[in-house]
Amino acid sequence: MKGIKTVYICSECEYESPKWLGKCPRCASWNSFVEDVVEKSTGSASVAPRRTAVINSGSNKASKFSELQTPEYIRSSTGLGELDCVLGGGLVKGSVVLLSGEPGIGKSTLLLQICDILGKSKSVLYVSGEESQGQLKLRAERLSVKGDSLYILTETNIENILSEAEKIKPDVIIADSVQTMYSDKINSAPGSITNVKEVAMAFISKAKNDGTSVILVGHINKEGSIAGPKVLEHMVDAVLNFEGDKKQTYRIIRANKNRYGSTNEIGVFEMTDTGLCEVANPSEMLLADRPVDTSGNCAICTMEGTRPIVAEIQALVTQTAFPAPRRTSNGIDYSRTYLILAVLEKRLGLKFYNQDVYLNVIGGLQINEPASDLGIALALISSLTDTVIPDSLIAIGELGLAGECRGIANIDLRVKEAARLGFSKAVVPAHNAKNAAKISGIEIIPVKNVYDLLRLLRTSKNNVKESD
Ligand SMILES: Nc1ncnc2c1ncn2[C@@H]1O[C@H](COP(=O)(O)OP(=O)(O)OP(=O)(O)O)[C@@H](O)[C@H]1O
Ligand SMILES: [Mg+2]
Repeated sequence: MKGIKTVYICSECEYESPKWLGKCPRCASWNSFVEDVVEKSTGSASVAPRRTAVINSGSNKASKFSELQTPEYIRSSTGLGELDCVLGGGLVKGSVVLLSGEPGIGKSTLLLQICDILGKSKSVLYVSGEESQGQLKLRAERLSVKGDSLYILTETNIENILSEAEKIKPDVIIADSVQTMYSDKINSAPGSITNVKEVAMAFISKAKNDGTSVILVGHINKEGSIAGPKVLEHMVDAVLNFEGDKKQTYRIIRANKNRYGSTNEIGVFEMTDTGLCEVANPSEMLLADRPVDTSGNCAICTMEGTRPIVAEIQALVTQTAFPAPRRTSNGIDYSRTYLILAVLEKRLGLKFYNQDVYLNVIGGLQINEPASDLGIALALISSLTDTVIPDSLIAIGELGLAGECRGIANIDLRVKEAARLGFSKAVVPAHNAKNAAKISGIEIIPVKNVYDLLRLLRTSKNNVKESD
């Protein structure tokens, strides 16, 4: 087509190239080039970057810092305490939030649910580029969303969306999803880097200039990152990630970026046929249906933000039938698994080299901190030696390469949560024992190293299976 040309754009840094490149010459990212269509510039061969004013301050003069007025963040509750907590206390007026997640994880469900509560005090415009009005109505009925001040628009053209928003003047706009929308100014297909950026910029300038809160839904690509330019994450005020195993009902919302709050908090939900329900006590849910008198299971306590969550680690160690034994780890970092196995082999002389090892964290939880090392090590030894760990025992602590058990932060919060859930024994690093002992109702077992762990399992009276 005349005036149009195909270019390849790096999704990380937006470097343009006339042909596909495996590695970006500017930011050195691999496989980051995606095809795009741009208008041919006359004269120069390169395309000048598009510049759009996002915030119209009305003045181009610098202001004295001491004379600036401190703005007040006006927050509105979404009606879901877990989501409010992740947002830092509610949805901020004039903010732009990007909600991303796997297909079918429940993004549209969550947003339609919050429309109901937000709609009681505010007008909300829900723009869907993916579903028909009928589909949305059916879902709203299933979720019992009345939506008296809720407007539904099925449109993908950003100019039409903004002109409709101009008429309705909503307090909140939900755009589901940014990848399905396009601008007349851009010649490439919806979802291309230039279109996603243009659409996001249009929403951001709307939010910043007239105080509308905007929630954008973002698709994620095969690699698990948000589809579109990396700059999209820089442009918005908060990036929330909706995670979880689709086969399980358990879902987590995590803030990867938040200009108005901490990124440490998580929100936990359960997917039911009437929508997403908040889970105020995730530990209780994660510990439900624990197997009794079975080797390879150990309870651990991980911190998700300021909240301690007790979960269960399961290990299965079986003799391998392959030349190279299998190592499968679900919810635990692979390198951490290899490290713990190496420590147990070297320090305790346990033979894992001819064993397949399967590790799993129940409930689809992702364990990202080393405080679960002791629990993983105990579960592995327990499965290898077929020794049962008592249900009433929880293990908290980090493992060092020399086989030492190292102290961890927030021991009091973790032990308190374990005691609340009915655990009667907590294995903790000796360094933390004094602090942990302040919590009543739970016996503290201090351990200095992996030898103590092995001894603990061997001396446990009722831990040998009857079949042995
Ligand atoms: N009748 C139902 N009963 C129970 N759960 C349902 C029902 N219908 C849908 N779901 C759940 O809702 C999920 C789909 O939710 P939703 O459409 O909100 O996801 P999404 O993240 O918006 O997906 P997409 O990326 O495709 O837009 C399904 O995967 C399923 O778990
Ligand atoms: Mg959806």
